[in-house]
Parts: sequence; C-alpha cells; structure tokens
Amino acid sequence: MLKSYPIGKSTVELPCSVVAISAKSGAQQGAMTASAMYVSQVPALILVSIAKSLATYELIEKSKAFAINILSENQIALAKKLASVHGKGVDKLKELKVATSAASTVKAPLIDGCFGYIECKVKGSFSDVEGDHAIYIGEAVSFKLDKSLKPLVWLENKYFKVGSECKLKV
Ligand SMILES: Cc1cc2nc3c(=O)[nH]c(=O)nc-3n(C[C@H](O)[C@H](O)[C@H](O)COP(=O)(O)O)c2cc1C
Repeated sequence: MLKSYPIGKSTVELPCSVVAISAKSGAQQGAMTASAMYVSQVPALILVSIAKSLATYELIEKSKAFAINILSENQIALAKKLASVHGKGVDKLKELKVATSAASTVKAPLIDGCFGYIECKVKGSFSDVEGDHAIYIGEAVSFKLDKSLKPLVWLENKYFKVGSECKLKV
C-alpha cells in the first residue's frame, strides 16, 4: 500500500551505487565512500557529489581528476572505513593499509579488489548549488571491470549485493 514518508527519507530509499572516489595531488592521496551516477552514455559522463569540507574535495579541486572504484560485495569493511575516517592532512590509504596501484590515464590511486574502475577527468563542476556539496561531472577516460566479482548497492543505509536479473514474464 502506498504511504507518505518524511521528505528526508527520500534520499535513503533511492537505491545507489557504492563506490570509493580516489584522487591524488602531489604526494597527497585519498579516497572516500560515495555514490556515482551516469549523466550521459555518449560521451561517457559520470556525476559525483562531494562535500566541500572533505579531504577528497581538496584533492579533486587541485588535480581536476578522480577515479571511481566500484566496490565489490567483499569490500563492505573498506566502504565503512573510507566513510568514517577523514583524510585531511594524512595519507588515508596508507594509514588504513589499503593496497593500491596507479591509475593508467589520470593521477589517482586504484584500490585493489574492486569490481571495476572508471578513471575520470573533471569536465565541469557546480559548487553554487544549494547545500555544502560540489558536483563534479567526470569524463570517463579508462574503464576496467572484473566480471568475476559483484558490485555493492546502497539502500536504507544498508549494503546489498546485486541479485538475479528480473526478466519480463511473457
Ligand atoms: C554509502 C555511503 C555513501 C556516501 N556518499 C557520499 C557522497 O556521495 N558524497 C559525500 O560527500 N560523502 C559521502 N559519504 C560520506 C563520506 O564517505 C565520508 O564523509 C568520508 O569520511 C570522507 O572522507 P575524506 O574526508 O577523507 O574525503 C558517503 C558515505 C557512505 C557510507
């Protein structure tokens, strides 16, 4: 039965991707748990929204690039860690002993063991929208996937694994 809920609940009832956005500027690198969505398929443009108070925001502002590490269902502990530790002034990935390798096209660390990696160059940004977040539109310049793994989904403040495909019954 259809019911009305408080407006604020609408953001947690919308199923979202679970990614780690990583970035690097000089010797400083970091990553944070976030969600990402696509804006356009051709060209491949992806949107991320980052609070301006975060370490990752500062890194993207300086480098104008980031990597989207699509977390796998084995990486819930990592998703929680990257969401609860703030990386200002520290190398968060080293501090948390997260294994990484260098991205191929942009200057950003890639986190080992992810379902996929989308390297992005910042194509545009909006920081004058309501609220304390900056929106970045990234142009995908490299894409890698490990199809032996499954991605995570975020719903009702909980992590879910992707289930079986829903097919139309004929
Ligand atoms: C599932 C999930 C999604 C999140 N998505 C975002 C997001 O899209 N944007 C954001 O600014 N923070 C998001 N956060 C919170 C950040 O991950 C958190 O503030 C993080 O500690 C920031 O790290 P940093 O200061 O090292 O950049 C999310 C947290 C979780 C658990």
